[in-house]
Amino acid sequence: MKILGIETSADDTGIALIEANGELGQDFRFKVLETALSSQPIHAEYGGIFPAMAKKEHAKNLPILLEQVLKKNQTGIDAIAVTVGPGLEPCLWTGITKAQELSKKWNVPVVPVNHVEGHIFVSLMRYENHDSRFMNREIRMHAFEFPILALLISGGHTELILMKEFGSYEYIGRTRDDAVGEAFDKVARLLGLAYPGGPEISRLAETARQQKLKADFVLPRPMMKEDNYDFSFSGLKTAVERRVATHPLQSLDREKIAREFEDAVADVLTYKTLRAVEEYGVHTLVIGGGVSANMRIRKKFAFWAKESGLALLLPPPEFSTDNGLMIALSGYFHALKKEFADPTKLSANGNLRLNS
Ligand code: KG4
Ligand code: ZN
Repeated sequence: MKILGIETSADDTGIALIEANGELGQDFRFKVLETALSSQPIHAEYGGIFPAMAKKEHAKNLPILLEQVLKKNQTGIDAIAVTVGPGLEPCLWTGITKAQELSKKWNVPVVPVNHVEGHIFVSLMRYENHDSRFMNREIRMHAFEFPILALLISGGHTELILMKEFGSYEYIGRTRDDAVGEAFDKVARLLGLAYPGGPEISRLAETARQQKLKADFVLPRPMMKEDNYDFSFSGLKTAVERRVATHPLQSLDREKIAREFEDAVADVLTYKTLRAVEEYGVHTLVIGGGVSANMRIRKKFAFWAKESGLALLLPPPEFSTDNGLMIALSGYFHALKKEFADPTKLSANGNLRLNS
């Protein structure tokens, strides 16, 4: 089955065309025929996403990216997968409208996709090479057993989800305030760094580690020892804000703060997630979403996974952030089950949840 994925839920416009075969499991295989992605630098100076502006950018980028992807592959597309939520509704609508238009033009069905499920599915695949060599190569799934625990960490999400089987999910924890990526972005802003803040903070933190620079203060690890699986990151941001307000930034202070902040986030995420792994008795942990591109967080989880014999599934960093492939993959499994929608009745849902 040839399936086109369209993602426009936040500030990345992503399109992917895949050829996929087989049922979920070791039988499944796919090839990435084309991918195209456009991230919007336009939000950099504001420190966050402006929905109206993002919508305009998606509308401008979509036809350009589609042309790139469809250049060699106009024919034989069996289905269109499109993100319908969660995300920014004005942005979601640009993708949905495009899917409706193409569905009519090509006379092919549309599969509505949950963005969060897309992040989980793209992380279940075994990319042998973490670079563009995966193009046109046959890719299969990791061997894994349900239930799977998924940690979704991005600009809009911080969620622990138990996936009992395909289509059956239970939310076991979430952030009570800011998403973890949002905290990275806000702290970056406090330090005068560009948006998106995650990669910038990470770069400074790494400099601090290499130069053995350590902050002479400790940031809080919010809710780490609490007996639940929820998170809170706004207090951590406020702690940085207070620190910056009361101590003028000296040379290399930003590096030290970045390091301490990144360590605080990594501590909380690993501690709580691994406790959930134990309580729910899972053997597979999937981490997805933009923040999972973070090397410190990856390393910390990798260390603990090795210690405890846990299978840790992480996508290559380029598929950690939003992209079209994740939507095509999730869409494929729904298309297999003929879970198509009437294109005229598609609707964006900013707060869409996974089914339980
Ligand atoms: O998944 P994503 O592309 O979009 C959403 O669904 O939100 O995630 C974007 C978020 C941003 O907040 C960005 O700062 C963060 O992911 N991010 C990172 C890194 N790369 C991206 N955070 C920490 N470290 C990184 N290396
Ligand atoms: Zn995302």
